[in-house]
Amino acid sequence: MVGREKELKIRFAPGRCELVEEDVDIPSRRALITGATGLLGRAVFKEFNENNWNAVGCGYRRAQPRFEQINLLDSVAVHDIIHDFQPHVIVHCAAERRPDVVENQPEAASQLNVAASGNLAKEAAGVGAFLIYISTDYVFDGTSPPYKETDVPNPLNLYGKTKLEGEKAVLENNEGAAVLRIPILYGEVERLEESAVTVMFDKVQFSNKSANMDHWQQRFPTNVKDVASVCRQLAEKRMLDPSIRGTFHWSGNEQMTKYEMACAIADAFNLPSSHLRPITDCPVVGALRPRNAQLDCSKLEMLGIGQRTPFRAGIKESLWPFLIDKRWRQTVFH
Ligand SMILES: NC(=O)c1ccc[n+]([C@@H]2O[C@H](COP(=O)([O-])OP(=O)(O)OC[C@H]3O[C@@H](n4cnc5c(N)ncnc54)[C@H](OP(=O)(O)O)[C@@H]3O)[C@@H](O)[C@H]2O)c1
Repeated sequence: MVGREKELKIRFAPGRCELVEEDVDIPSRRALITGATGLLGRAVFKEFNENNWNAVGCGYRRAQPRFEQINLLDSVAVHDIIHDFQPHVIVHCAAERRPDVVENQPEAASQLNVAASGNLAKEAAGVGAFLIYISTDYVFDGTSPPYKETDVPNPLNLYGKTKLEGEKAVLENNEGAAVLRIPILYGEVERLEESAVTVMFDKVQFSNKSANMDHWQQRFPTNVKDVASVCRQLAEKRMLDPSIRGTFHWSGNEQMTKYEMACAIADAFNLPSSHLRPITDCPVVGALRPRNAQLDCSKLEMLGIGQRTPFRAGIKESLWPFLIDKRWRQTVFH
C-alpha cells in the first residue's frame, strides 16, 4: 500500500546545512478532500492522512499555506487538480452551510452547493474516483423521525433545498457516488462561532448573565472525528466492494435540545447552569428548522461502519482551549 518517492529535505550539520534528496514512503491510496479548511474537512483530511492514505486537501479563502487553493466554481481548476492527482476517493465537504446566509445569498449558495457539486461528481466519474458528498439532516421536515435513507425528503429551508438538489446533481452525474447525510456538528474549532454547538460556550461561561436557549428543536450533536472516521471506513469498504454507493445516514445518538447541550457543557466543566433559560416555543427568527430530523443509521451499522464519541467527552476535548479560566491563567502567568 506504499510507494517510494524522492523528496528534498534540509539536513543540518555543525556549521552548515545542505539540501539532500531522500526516499520517502508515499501511500498509494489517494484521497482528495474539498473544504479541508472547514470544520468537518479538517477532521476528514487528518483522518485519511493518519491512516495510510495520501491525502490532498483543498480550501479556498483559508487554503494557504497548508492546502491547495481551488475555487470549486472554477471548472477548469477542478478538472486540472483531479486529472493531476488522480484520486481514488474524493470527500466533498465544501459548501455554504449557514441557513441564514443561504436565505440572503441564494444564487451564490446554489452555485456552490448544487452546480459545483454536480461538476465535481462528473469529474470524479471521469477518473473513476469514489465521491462522498456530505449532505444534511435538513433535507427532512422533521415531522416523522427517525428518517431512513429511503424516506422522502421535504426540506423546510433554502439551505436544505440546495443540499438536496446537490445530492441529485451528484447522483445524476455519477451513479457510483455516495451521499452521506449528517446532523449538527461539533469538534475542534478555530473560533467558537465555527460550530452551532461550540458557539454556546461563552453564554455558558458568563454565568452572571441569564441566557435564553432553544429547547424546542431536537438535535443529535455529532463529532467531526466520528464523521471523518465513517468517511474513511466507507471509502475503504468501497475499495473492496463496488456495490457500496447511494445514500447513507450517520449521526450521534444522544438527543438534546440546545438548552440540554448547554447544560451538558456546563456539567462537563463543573460550571453553573442556573442562568440558562429553556425556551420551548418554536423559534420565529431566521430560516425555518425541522423539529426533529433524527437520522436512522442502521444501514451503515449493518455494514459494520460507525464510530460514536460520547457528547460530554467530545465537547470537553473541543472546548477546553476556550475555557475563560484557562485563558485568564495564561494571561496572568505567561
Ligand atoms: N456544520 C454543521 O453543523 C453541518 C451539519 C450538517 C451537514 N453539514 C455539511 O457538512 C459539510 C461541511 O460543513 P462545515 O461545517 O465543515 O463547513 P464550513 O466549516 O463552513 O467550511 C466550508 C468549507 O467550504 C469551503 N468553500 C467555500 N466556498 C468555496 C469555494 N468557492 N471553493 C472551494 N471551497 C469553498 C471553505 O473554504 P475556505 O474557508 O478556505 O474559503 C471551507 O473549507 C457541508 O457540506 C455541510 O453542508 C454541516
